[in-house]
Amino acid sequence: MNRKAQFVSAVLKKKGSQRAAGSAFAPVNIALVKYWGKRDQELNLPVTNSLSYTLSIGTHTSISLADRQDAIWLNDVPLSLEHPIARRLIAFCDLFRPDPATYFQIKTKNEVPTGAGLASSASGFAALTMAMNDLFGWDLDRRELSLLARLGSGSACRSLFDGFVEWHTGSREDGLDSFAERLDVEWPEFSVEPWILSSEQKAIDSRKAMQATIEHSSLYAAWPAKVAHDLSALKRALFDRDFDTLGAICENNALTMHATMIATAPPIIYWTEESLRAMRLVWQWRKNGLPIYFTMDAGPNLKLIFLKKDEATVRTLILSSKVYYPTSKCL
Ligand code: PMV
Repeated sequence: MNRKAQFVSAVLKKKGSQRAAGSAFAPVNIALVKYWGKRDQELNLPVTNSLSYTLSIGTHTSISLADRQDAIWLNDVPLSLEHPIARRLIAFCDLFRPDPATYFQIKTKNEVPTGAGLASSASGFAALTMAMNDLFGWDLDRRELSLLARLGSGSACRSLFDGFVEWHTGSREDGLDSFAERLDVEWPEFSVEPWILSSEQKAIDSRKAMQATIEHSSLYAAWPAKVAHDLSALKRALFDRDFDTLGAICENNALTMHATMIATAPPIIYWTEESLRAMRLVWQWRKNGLPIYFTMDAGPNLKLIFLKKDEATVRTLILSSKVYYPTSKCL
C-alpha cells in the first residue's frame, strides 16, 4: 500500500453504509497568513501553519456511481477526462474507490472562476470530500474530513470550517496531525471580498509554483520564520479586534510570498498590470482615510479586507476605478 492509501485507510477506520448519491457545499477560504511550500509533496504536508478566513461563496458538488467510466461536469459542461482538472479529480477519487471498477459521476459548480487564484480548488476538493462522505455514509467529523480534503489540495483542509481557521503543519511523518481547526473568534464586522481583475486560468498552478519557489528562490529560506512571526502577531491582532494591525500583517505577508516567487529562477509572476493598478488604488484609498487592505494568492486577483460598515464605500470606489471584472457574486 502506498503512503496515500495508508493515510486514507487510517482516517476511514469505520465503514459506512453506501447511499445512491451524495451532495455537499463547501465555501472558499482566503489565507490571511499564507501556506506556500510543502514539507511532504505526496501527503500535501505544509512547511508552516497558515491562517484563513472563510467566505460565504463556494462550490456545490454532487456525486453518484456511474456504469462504465467516470463522468465529470464542471459548471454544467461535461469535462474531457483528459482535462487537467478532471485528471486531478479522478486521481483524488482513486483514493476512495471500493474497487477499481467503481466509477463516479460528479457534478460540480463553482461560484467563483475556476483556476484563477480564487481558491476554487480549496472549496472544490472540500465539497467533493463532503459529498463522498455523504455517498459512502462514512459519518466523519470535520477534522477527519479536513485530513482527507488536504490530499486533494492543501488549502482545501481549511474549507471545512467557517470563520477564522488555522491549518496545523503537524510533526508526524504520516500526516495524521496536519488538519485545520476553527479559531474561537467571532468578528461579524470583518469582511474579505474578491476583487476580480481576470478570470483566466493561471499559467502555472500553485502546486508547481510552490515547489519551484522552494527549489529555485534564494528568498524562500526566510519564509518559515516570516510566517511564524506573522501568525503570532495576527492572532494577537485578531483577539484584540485590531483591524489596522491585522490588515497590515495580511498585506505584507501576501507581498512577501509573492516576493519569494518573483525571486525564483525563472521568475513566477502572477500579477498583471491591472493587479498593480488595483494595489496602488488600495494604498491611495487608505491614505485618504479608508481602512482597507488586500491579500493575493496564486493569481492576478486581489482580495480586499475591510469592515462591513465600509462595504458601500468600497463598492462605489471599485466601480468608479473601472479596474474590475463584472460579476454578480464578487465585487
Ligand atoms: O492548496 P493549494 O495547492 O491550491 O495552494 C494554495 C496556496 C495559496 O492560495 C497561494 C495560499 C493559501 O494559503 O491558500
